Amino acid sequence: MNDFFETLKPGSEEWILAKNLDPARLPRHIAVIMDGNGRWAKQRHMPRIAGHKAGVNSVRDIVESSARLGIEALTLYAFSTENWKRPTLEVQALWQLLRLYLRSELSTLRENNVRLTAIGRIEDLPAYVQTELAHVTSLTAANTGLQLNLALNYSGRTELVDAIRGIIASGVPADAVDEELIERHLYTNGLPEPDLLIRTSGEMRVSNFLLWQIAYSELVVSTTLWPDFRCRHLLEALLDYQRRERRFGGVGEPVTAQKEIDSIPVGVASR
Ligand code: FPP
Repeated sequence: MNDFFETLKPGSEEWILAKNLDPARLPRHIAVIMDGNGRWAKQRHMPRIAGHKAGVNSVRDIVESSARLGIEALTLYAFSTENWKRPTLEVQALWQLLRLYLRSELSTLRENNVRLTAIGRIEDLPAYVQTELAHVTSLTAANTGLQLNLALNYSGRTELVDAIRGIIASGVPADAVDEELIERHLYTNGLPEPDLLIRTSGEMRVSNFLLWQIAYSELVVSTTLWPDFRCRHLLEALLDYQRRERRFGGVGEPVTAQKEIDSIPVGVASR
């Protein structure tokens, strides 16, 4: 987190929020459902595309903030398999914005030691987007800082379909299929599961995002629309995350459980 403080003004709102964070308990992997671009534009009587354009500034800010905070991985839900149902012009604008982002950010991604990866059915993206992605992916492949993972033409269900297809094609007998094998066939193979899932714009849905991987993720819903979401909102989500007690289906710290047993009157405990 030292890198992070270097860029902040002591006493600023972000500085105060960051000072309250425990650097030892930051999430390794943050996943984000970027939502609210359309509403942001509508509030301003602008076309939906203007909302997506403004959303790119938030992408830039959150990627840089995550890199400086020392987060290992950031997965952004940029285009779902269902997003093809949107008007053609909007879909085309989204791909153009992605190309623009990749072109203009390449040097910043390299300076910040960010490695770009993508998940989803990438082979179905427009050829020019695939070319740009392959270019930035290969030029950042050796970077060791934040892994910026873009979910493009992605859905959790198609990911599971593709994983099952891969498993069947490999000829593995049914009784050899276990959770570890399934994980190895997911697009996210090699990534830690998201510790924190952030959704912007106040919607309370997971929308077919990382369905397997978010089994134990902490969910933080921010009412801020994605184009307004900045480092300050990320820090607030991180503080919220650090207030949670993660139990992974258990009951909490063994020491707490023992204290509870000790506090039960003997007569009750032996019944
Ligand atoms: C959801 O808002 C947002 C999207 C479907 C696209 C997200 C894309 C970007 C932020 C820009 C390009 C991405 C990168 C990685 C450079 P919505 O349109 O569903 O909003 P609404 O619910 O208010 O209509």
